Amino acid sequence: MHGKSILLIIGGGIAAYKCLDFIRRARERGAKVRCVLTRAAQEFVTPLSVAVLSEEPAFTELFDLKNETEIGHIRLSREADLIIVAPATANLLAKMAHGIADDLASTVILAGDKPVLAAPAMNWRMWTHPATRRNLAQLAVDGVRFVGPNEGGMACGEWGVGRMAEVDEIISAASAILREDAAARPAHQSGPTLRSKCTGDTAPQDGASSSGALTGRHVLVTAGPTYEPLDPVRFIGNRSSGKQGYAIAAAAARLGARVTLVAGPTALPDPKGVATVHVETARDMFDAVDAALPADIAVFAAAVADWRAAAVEAEKIKKGEDGPPQLRLVENPDILKTVASRGAGRPPLVIGFAAETGNAVALGSKKLASKGADWIVANDVSPERGIFGGDHNEVHVIRRDGVESWPSLSKDDVALRLMRAAAEHVSTSQRNASQREGNL
Ligand code: C5P
Repeated sequence: MHGKSILLIIGGGIAAYKCLDFIRRARERGAKVRCVLTRAAQEFVTPLSVAVLSEEPAFTELFDLKNETEIGHIRLSREADLIIVAPATANLLAKMAHGIADDLASTVILAGDKPVLAAPAMNWRMWTHPATRRNLAQLAVDGVRFVGPNEGGMACGEWGVGRMAEVDEIISAASAILREDAAARPAHQSGPTLRSKCTGDTAPQDGASSSGALTGRHVLVTAGPTYEPLDPVRFIGNRSSGKQGYAIAAAAARLGARVTLVAGPTALPDPKGVATVHVETARDMFDAVDAALPADIAVFAAAVADWRAAAVEAEKIKKGEDGPPQLRLVENPDILKTVASRGAGRPPLVIGFAAETGNAVALGSKKLASKGADWIVANDVSPERGIFGGDHNEVHVIRRDGVESWPSLSKDDVALRLMRAAAEHVSTSQRNASQREGNL
């Protein structure tokens, strides 16, 4: 941060108080911090405190002639290396997404040509509202980066995702962006970068800077086995541990997505920051998936039982003298196939798994076509490979245009790599679609 200029747009939320600490900490690291306060922000922190801590004027009014003469709102945004919006309220994010410039804060953001980092903060219902999700998705496409929000108790007394990121998280996200920006700029260009924030080329490559690649997206993941009851005590199940699916849900959340995990019975704790719905049977899993849609990305990592008993006995089946009972099985709904073949409401990216014993690529490629998925993640689960229940996985990602075989990786690394690829895919598809619309 040393020698960098940060323009901090302070929005009107209770978390605005954290900005005072941010100013102090960023300045300790050698940054110059200039602040713009929205009208609502001034209800939470005063321009005087901000001015004293930043040792710069606190800017509040668009039509403040004195400041317009001395600096002007265009210069205010152009002289910054990074614009940080914190707390980024639902209202500020909505204005940013729609290019509304009706006060100084929103005008300097629109006039800016520098990277923008937003630290959202709002009640969890506002955070999960479809309008906010749409705005976040648009901002992600526009190249805006996000840090947080975190899960926790809120000023309103409720609990959920919506707490503004902590100051040290904002500092490290800001430092990562400044580092990336410096690396992206040609060595001879020492002045402020002119890179457009709309190029979308800020796709993060490392964990620290990757928060936000899925911000604004809803990712739906199925994981674990399903249990199909035979009677009140027995069931048909399988050896899936759920580890890969849980890791995918956690990775998607880490990249900023709103995540719904529909999980069959596993021994795993619910991943942090993920809405986990617990189910037992394939039919319950299907209903939970249906209820969770729409989603931007759906990952079907569950090992769903293909069959269930045609009739579930109300009482425990007794060992009789007539030998073992005859089980009649009927087919379960194929969740992946049903969702992938939907017209309206089909998630733009549908990823299935193919756990095979044999030629995983050949069998997985067949499955890609038969299920109508966009990608199939195929692996060989022969017992000697220790995939079921293990912590590592060796997968082939089969797409319609080719196969990528990944080396043996931890399930967490497979998950992060897969979710980064998925984030890139949906952003590129969305950008291409907008360009096509623009060309019409
Ligand atoms: O047909 P098979 O079970 O091998 O297909 C595997 C893929 O299909 C996995 O992604 C799995 O989650 C999904 N699947 C499903 N519903 C089923 C069976 C499989 O979603 N009933």
